[in-house]
Amino acid sequence: MFSRIVGMLGFLAIFLGASLTPMFAQSFSDLTATMRGFQESRVLLTAVELDIFTAVGTGATAAQVSKKLGTNPRATETLLNAVVSLGALRKEAGTFFNTPETARYLVAGSRDYARPALMHTVNMFDSWATLTDCVRTGTAVKPPGVSRQDQQWTESFIAAMHSAAEGTAAQVVRAVEVQGVCRLLDIGGGSGAYSIAFAKESPSLRAEVLDLASVVPIAQKHIDEAGVANQVSTRIGDLTVDEFGKDYDLILLSAICHMLDPEQNLDLFRRCYRALAPGGRIVIRDFILEPDKTAPKWVALFAINMLVGTKGGSTYTEAEYKSWLTGAGFQGFTRIDPTGDLIVARR
Ligand SMILES: C[S@@+](CC[C@H](N)C(=O)[O-])C[C@H]1O[C@@H](n2cnc3c(N)ncnc32)[C@H](O)[C@@H]1O
Repeated sequence: MFSRIVGMLGFLAIFLGASLTPMFAQSFSDLTATMRGFQESRVLLTAVELDIFTAVGTGATAAQVSKKLGTNPRATETLLNAVVSLGALRKEAGTFFNTPETARYLVAGSRDYARPALMHTVNMFDSWATLTDCVRTGTAVKPPGVSRQDQQWTESFIAAMHSAAEGTAAQVVRAVEVQGVCRLLDIGGGSGAYSIAFAKESPSLRAEVLDLASVVPIAQKHIDEAGVANQVSTRIGDLTVDEFGKDYDLILLSAICHMLDPEQNLDLFRRCYRALAPGGRIVIRDFILEPDKTAPKWVALFAINMLVGTKGGSTYTEAEYKSWLTGAGFQGFTRIDPTGDLIVARR
């Protein structure tokens, strides 16, 4: 009975609170807990960075882990204990064990080993730490890894993009409809995951993945492994300045526009327009903000990711995309929403 009353009072408090304050307002203790959120994040990122889970393997003491990794024994034990406190390892009689989840995703050799892609999140932590300076100066103070020609950064970045694309590419292909598409240009195509999915859907389609010199060999590897090298080719290029050629039926810009500032997007759309055949389509896949730019939360936070990681990138609203597309000459603007956000327009 007591618990029912407490439950009802709790419900009433939530109901009244919700009607008096905006739904998104947080209590001060919630806010301070969010401020300390980096602690748990940093523990897991360091565990991933050091490949602690592989070192733990089928079970190891802190001394064995520190010996394998060449790390300090006291600090390694402190880290392992904290990882256990977060539920990412187990500890029994002084020996540490992986959980079923960490054994599946974080131990090298496992089929679903996700560390290469997660290293991108490790790298993001460094750029997010510069946020205050970025807000002071208005741009990234640590140049993005791709432009620094940092191969480790680039490989983990493309691995992260590939792993995200694996979950969405087939849905995007279905939503876009490939009927009548003979020539596809995948600008900033990364691992080639989207071009590969388009090629698999339509044997007569030919796709070209355009990307930086450091990325094209990674795309080529994925294309070869997928067995579609007869349909998908690669091209080294610079999407910020290149003319792309002529007579494409479809141009894909997947996760590209958020790297660029508004003027660069308008300029890119103009060059895409010139490269399309009459009636050809531009397909933009990106994270789109609601009109007042504060939601969805993760898209507003992704704008921060671009603030700290690019010169002038951000996330944008549907109206902004529409104005650039119209400015570049496109017509028939439509937004479809199979997995995230897709905008399609026609030359
Ligand atoms: C966020 S990733 C998206 C990759 C892929 N389109 C996808 O959705 O999985 C951005 C891509 O743009 C490429 N890129 C960045 N700057 C570029 C430039 N100036 N010219 C060509 N490609 C560029 C990156 O190397 C990367 O592959």
